[in-house]
Amino acid sequence: MVVSLRGVTRGYPGLSALDAVDLEIADGTAVALTGASGAGKSTVLHLLGGMDRPTAGTVEIDGKALTSRQMDEHRRRVGFVFQRFHLLPALTVLDNVLAPLLPRRVDFDRRERATELLTAVGLAERTSALPAELSGGQQQRVAIARALVGRPRLLLADEPTGNLDSVIGREIVDLLLSLRERYGTTLVVATHDPEVAAGCDRIVRLQDGRITSDTKLSPSDDVLDRLGGLRP
Ligand SMILES: Nc1ncnc2c1ncn2[C@@H]1O[C@H](COP(=O)(O)OP(=O)(O)OP(=O)(O)O)[C@@H](O)[C@H]1O
Ligand SMILES: [Mg+2]
Repeated sequence: MVVSLRGVTRGYPGLSALDAVDLEIADGTAVALTGASGAGKSTVLHLLGGMDRPTAGTVEIDGKALTSRQMDEHRRRVGFVFQRFHLLPALTVLDNVLAPLLPRRVDFDRRERATELLTAVGLAERTSALPAELSGGQQQRVAIARALVGRPRLLLADEPTGNLDSVIGREIVDLLLSLRERYGTTLVVATHDPEVAAGCDRIVRLQDGRITSDTKLSPSDDVLDRLGGLRP
């Protein structure tokens, strides 16, 4: 699935969170969105995920403009990981992962899928724990399993390591990158963390609602060195 912003502006009274942005995200790639606080990173994620609408321009899926009628359908193709995990405190780990499927009809075995994902994130032994019994890194792993349970084509993560220390953050990034390869999901991650960005295939930097650089990385790049210039 190719998802694009074409001339997208997202205006609020008195300001443009995004200003005529063009951005095409190729199928299967891992893209980092960087830039200072307020640059427009979360706004881009919300637009890509069908959680917000542009005030001008279009969001396109495989070259076709996303209409308001298609928003619900589009959101079902998207998984979202947040900085603050947002698990439901009264539900077990397994039920948290199953929760997004509750209102949906699916053609696979829910528990099998949820258990497979909890195994993939290293929490097979903790399925009946409550979120409060887990560390921050473990809670984020549950949130990642939850984001993937509906077999999304597009995984969006908004500062997924922002609430974690750097070692645990690194593990979470590695997990996101390995899961996107395993499940063939496109990954777009908003981040202030140069190490997160360095693990992606491409770094898009935003400033005041516009793209100021767009860098493709190859595995041989000495990325962390070059990130000096990309830091917000
Ligand atoms: N609901 C809203 N009403 C008014 N202004 C908003 C709203 N949401 C976002 N903005 C503004 O849009 C701009 C971009 O916000 P956005 O949340 O996309 O930034 P960000 O790059 O994600 O920042 P951060 O790194 O702090 O998360 C900011 O100036 C913000 O104040
Ligand atoms: Mg943000």
